Parts: sequence; structure tokens; C-alpha cells
Amino acid sequence: MYLHGTSTINSKGHLEIGGCDTVELAEQYGTPLYVMDEALIRQRCKEFVDAFRKSGLPFQVAYASKAFCVMAMCRIAEEEGMSLDVVSDGELYTALQAGFPPERIHFHGNNKTPQELEMALDAGIGCFVVDNFIELHMLNAIAGEKRKKTKVLLRITPGVDAHTHEYISTGQTDSKFGFDLANGSAKQAVSEASELPHLELLGTHSHIGSQIFEVGGFQLAVEKVIGFAVSVRAELGVTFSVLNLGGGFGIRYTESDTPLPVAEYVAAITSTVREQFAKHGYPLPEIWTEPGRSIVGDAGTTLYTIGTYKDIPGVRKYVAVDGGMTDNPRPALYQAQYEAMLANRAAEPEEEVVSIAGKCCESGDMLIWDTKLPKASTGDVLAVACTGAYNYSMASNYNRLRRPAVVFVKDGAADVVVERETLGDLVHKDVVPERMKPVSKAR
Ligand code: LLP
Repeated sequence: MYLHGTSTINSKGHLEIGGCDTVELAEQYGTPLYVMDEALIRQRCKEFVDAFRKSGLPFQVAYASKAFCVMAMCRIAEEEGMSLDVVSDGELYTALQAGFPPERIHFHGNNKTPQELEMALDAGIGCFVVDNFIELHMLNAIAGEKRKKTKVLLRITPGVDAHTHEYISTGQTDSKFGFDLANGSAKQAVSEASELPHLELLGTHSHIGSQIFEVGGFQLAVEKVIGFAVSVRAELGVTFSVLNLGGGFGIRYTESDTPLPVAEYVAAITSTVREQFAKHGYPLPEIWTEPGRSIVGDAGTTLYTIGTYKDIPGVRKYVAVDGGMTDNPRPALYQAQYEAMLANRAAEPEEEVVSIAGKCCESGDMLIWDTKLPKASTGDVLAVACTGAYNYSMASNYNRLRRPAVVFVKDGAADVVVERETLGDLVHKDVVPERMKPVSKAR
């Protein structure tokens, strides 16, 4: 397994992260356990902020909180000078509860409810990324009732098809998101938005996909958006001051993944922006971006305890862990690939090829097919790397498994930032109607 961030193998032959022995973490906090390398998260935030600063362009880096949204993470995002992208009242609430400055929050989503718009307006968030005509007029009306004027970006689908898994490509024309550039609805949206008295149109937003390894898609999106900005300026007299290019920067899950360093993505994007805007004699906009996975993905490691295993001679050996698709649905959903190691025997040679199964009652609950490990047995601690993004945030209680705890580790100290769910939590919201209550047996 590739060792990310502060991960290392200590003198006991154990995997250590943030100066904490993961075998001790597993003992102390139980498994499954999400371990987040705080120094690596902060390093990734800094890489983005520093690269944009270096470009000399005005910018905002908004952490896409959907990747991993808990209050402690919102604190880090604020401390590292980031803005925050939220897509629901739940993410907004989490950010506000964490004391995140509302003026640095951007609200996304293709179906924001009137209640969500109200909540965000009342909180005084910085910007709404408006997705469609219904939202555009609803937001204007609600803002009007509140005698407010709010900033908006229009989400456009630039028709760029990033080379990625079908489910996570959102820049193409056939998408549930945004105003289409090609069929004229984006221009219509600019025309309507600029007339609405309670909205201040700042510019456009586009997001071309996720886990992208090349800069070409982003550059193409910039070219399409500048073309659009120029025609809108000529025809409608509207000048954009913000260009939001979304997220999607790839990370290394396995050795076949070849992401660019953050600085390279940013340099390619900002130089294209400079070039293209100069070419069209258009005033340079503020560049906003929304990295999620690339901020938290490789900082996360999930620890599991190995329970049973099943060797089918000549076929395969299944090694089962105490979590699975409930804490990491990505392999089942996207055929996502991960690397693993035995955290308690990290220095031992890999001896056998096994497949890691979860404990859910369905065959599709597999975490890794065919990975090499030392001969694993019951009680060993399995570490799966790169689980920081879209694991905790997509976790479920399928089969009524409890969602794991999350700990941040740094400089030899571990802090629980989310407690493990209890059995009581699982039935906490259940209600048994009076007529179904068990009849107490008379003695
Ligand atoms: N901005 C917008 C508008 C987005 O839709 C997304 C991700 C991001 C930013 C952040 O993208 P990132 O930098 O994290 O790639 N559940 C999937 C990923 C879905 C991404 C959805 N949108 C997965 O586990 O791979």
C-alpha cells in the first residue's frame, strides 16, 4: 500500500499516521474507524491557496464539503482560508454550527427547496449557485420578501465531457444540472437574472466531472465560458466578474492513478484564464474553484478488524472485515479501487492474494478484489488507504450497521471528531405505533 501524507511504518512494524500507532487507535476507538491525517488535509488546503496566490489572480478556493462534511472539517477549512460549498440545509447547518463565516459559503444544488433558500438567505451566505429557471425566480421572490439582494452565479453545462466514470461526469449537455450553453438556455438565464431586482449576477459556474487527471477538460471549459461571456457582454451588456470552475481534481487511489500536483492543475487553469481573457479583451475575473476529493481523499484511512475468511481452493480467498459497503459504498457504486495493508503487520512481506469482503448481507459488498497481503487471520487490523472523501459522507446504516467514529490524528495526538453510532442511535428515531406495542405479559 502506498503511504500517503504522514503515514509510516513504526519500530513495532505497525502503520502509524499522524504520529499515532493505528493498532492502538483500533484498540482504543474500535473498528471500523476512519482515521484522518490532519496535517495532510491542511497541506492540501495550503497547496490550493498558495497556488492561486502565486497566480496573482483574485480567487476563492471553496472546499466542496460533500466530500466529508463534519464540523471539525469546517473549522479546518476556515482556518486554512477556504470558502465552503454546501448543497443542502444539512451541510449548511453543519457549517453554521461550526461557526463558519456565512459570507464565505456558496450554496449549490439542482433542487434547493424554498426552506433551504430561506435558511441560507437568513444566514446571509455569500452566494447561491443557481441551477435552473424555477430556482432563479423563487430565489428572487424569497429574497424580495426579505428585502434582500443576494449574489448569484449561474451553473452552466459547458458541454465538456471529462474522461471519467459515467456517473461522475456532469459537464456534458445531457445532465440534470445547470443551464445548457449549446441550446441557448444559459444566455436566457443571464438575460432573466440580470433583470431580477433581488439578485446580483456575478458570473458562471461549471463543474466538468470528478477524479480528473488532465488539465485539458478544465482548459476547454474556460474557453467555452469565455466565449459565452464575450457573446453575453456584446448582446446583453452583462460583464461577469466571477468564473467558478468547480472541482474534480484527481487523486491517487492506486498506482494506476496519475494525478497532477495541485500546483500544476492550478497553474494550467490560471494561465489559460489569463490568456483567454486577454485575447478577448475581457476584464480578468475572480477565479473560484471547489476541490473536495483532492482536499480530504488521501488523508483518510479506514481501519477494520478481520473476522472470518473463506478459502475456496483454486478459486479465491475471501477475507471479511467488520465494515464494508456501509462505510465505503464506492467500490459497489463505481467499481472504485483501493489499496490495503495489515496495519499490525505492516513490515511483513505480502504472501497471498485475497479479496476483502464486507459484512453486509449481499454479494456485492466487496471492498477490494485481489489484493496482496501477508497471510491474514482473525484479529488482524486491515487498513484501507485513501478513504477520506465520499466515504463517511456517503456511509449508510444498511443492515443496521453503526456508522464508525472519525478521528483526526496529528503530532501523536488523536481527537474524535465524530463519535461512533450506538445501537441506541439506530432505533432512536423509530416509533412503534401504540397498537403494535408488545403486550406486557401478566405474571
Ligand atoms: N463542485 C461541484 C458542483 C460538484 O458537483 C462536485 C462534486 C465538486 C465540486 C467536488 O468534486 P471533487 O473535487 O470532490 O471531485 N460520490 C462520488 C463523487 C461525486 C462528486 C459530485 N460532485 C465519488 O465518490 O467518487
